[in-house]
Amino acid sequence: MQLNHNAPKTNVTAVMVEEHQLILRMIALLEKNVVLAEAGRFSDWSFFLDGALPFIKDFADLFHHAKEEDVLFKALVANGMPEQNSPVTAMLMEHDQGRSFVRGMGLAARQLLTSDQAVTTTEAIAALAENARGYVELLRDHIDKEDTILYPLAERVLPEAVRSDMIAAYSAAEAKTSGLQEKYCRLVEVYEGKLDA
Ligand SMILES: [Fe+2]
Ligand SMILES: [Fe+2]
Repeated sequence: MQLNHNAPKTNVTAVMVEEHQLILRMIALLEKNVVLAEAGRFSDWSFFLDGALPFIKDFADLFHHAKEEDVLFKALVANGMPEQNSPVTAMLMEHDQGRSFVRGMGLAARQLLTSDQAVTTTEAIAALAENARGYVELLRDHIDKEDTILYPLAERVLPEAVRSDMIAAYSAAEAKTSGLQEKYCRLVEVYEGKLDA
């Protein structure tokens, strides 16, 4: 029997590219709202504490990054990508850098919401903007590298034999957080609507 090497493989990255689109929409909101905050035209600090930060922690990190770290990156390493000094190592480092910007944003947003006397409002807004911009810049670049380099590489090198297990592992992760994507899609729409109003 002759094997058909041109048979289409099960796609294991399209779902991740789609999740990136929602993350990029939240990143655009972050960017616009810090510009308004610096101009004194935005004081809805709950956008950060109840909107952007839960979105980033639950959707971008626990949901999306967990699928990458626990499924896709593991499959790449199991199929020949080195664990050290490789694109996977670089992506993991960037996930960690993102988490540190998120901590900085959370601290500054809490200070603003509680009018913490230890820092002035101007200082807290500056810290919030610095961490938000750091996150925006990091994630845009990170997503671009995944979409244009790492994911296409994964589609080329991962054998078909491992792909159904990967899809099952994605589904198991999604089942654990049922409705999460819909919830955060609505949240992004609400804050986009507020900006347009
Ligand atoms: Fe990533
Ligand atoms: Fe990603």
